[in-house]
Amino acid sequence: MEIIIRDDYASVSQQAAVAVADLLRAQPQAVLGLATGSTPLGLYQELIRLHREENLDFSQVTTFNLDEYVGLAADHPQSYHYFMHDNLFRHINVPHENIHIPDGTASDYRAFCESYEARIESCGGIDLQVLGIGSDGHIAFNEPGSSLASRTRIKTLARQTIDDNARFFDSVDDVPIYAITMGVGTILDARKIILLANGANKASAVADAVEGPVTSMCTASVLQNHPDTIFFLDTEAADQLKMADEYRWIQDNKPGAP
Ligand code: GLP
Repeated sequence: MEIIIRDDYASVSQQAAVAVADLLRAQPQAVLGLATGSTPLGLYQELIRLHREENLDFSQVTTFNLDEYVGLAADHPQSYHYFMHDNLFRHINVPHENIHIPDGTASDYRAFCESYEARIESCGGIDLQVLGIGSDGHIAFNEPGSSLASRTRIKTLARQTIDDNARFFDSVDDVPIYAITMGVGTILDARKIILLANGANKASAVADAVEGPVTSMCTASVLQNHPDTIFFLDTEAADQLKMADEYRWIQDNKPGAP
């Protein structure tokens, strides 16, 4: 696990975008796993800028999103379909048929989840997975207590997540209580993972994930078992890390560091 601490959200977003852009330039047919929430917005804006100003090409890219609320149609303004099209896909040249987002209105959820897993596999697996982190340490919608071997399935949201995400809805009662989400095991299969976190309300979850025990009570902690994961953090999100100075020192002295 590599920990990169930056002064602010803008530089976290910019550094994460460099990681994505480097991959796409080396591997134009890469399969990206994408996240929603407010955290990756800066990353998506930077990718859009790189597409417009530096010809970053998405024409051969395939994407899989982590999750979607059950019951929200693709045109619902709070659906993750809407979010992704509004904040990324309509601004870049990824082919529509290469975009995959769980269907929150599927009539047979179990069959849909199995087919989502099969589709990821048939595309060769995810090369790079982008993650945020919930304030309770969840990744995607793998709430505390989720099996660390879980696959794509329906999950009941934790009440804390419902409260956290209520800011996007008119009222907390409008927040769906179920979601389709990639499982922890699905996420761990990605060849590379980048997790972004900013702000003081993520500091405790980040500390649990990076320096706590690997436990289903903080599903992000399982990333300690992944061979190629980078956490991009701003100073506030890194504030409760006991070894923050050590991580900074390691970055400053990395082979090849300026
Ligand atoms: C939701 C999403 C997660 C995301 C989390 C944090 O629960 N399912 O993928 O990481 O929110 O969101 P935010 O970035 O808005 O804090």
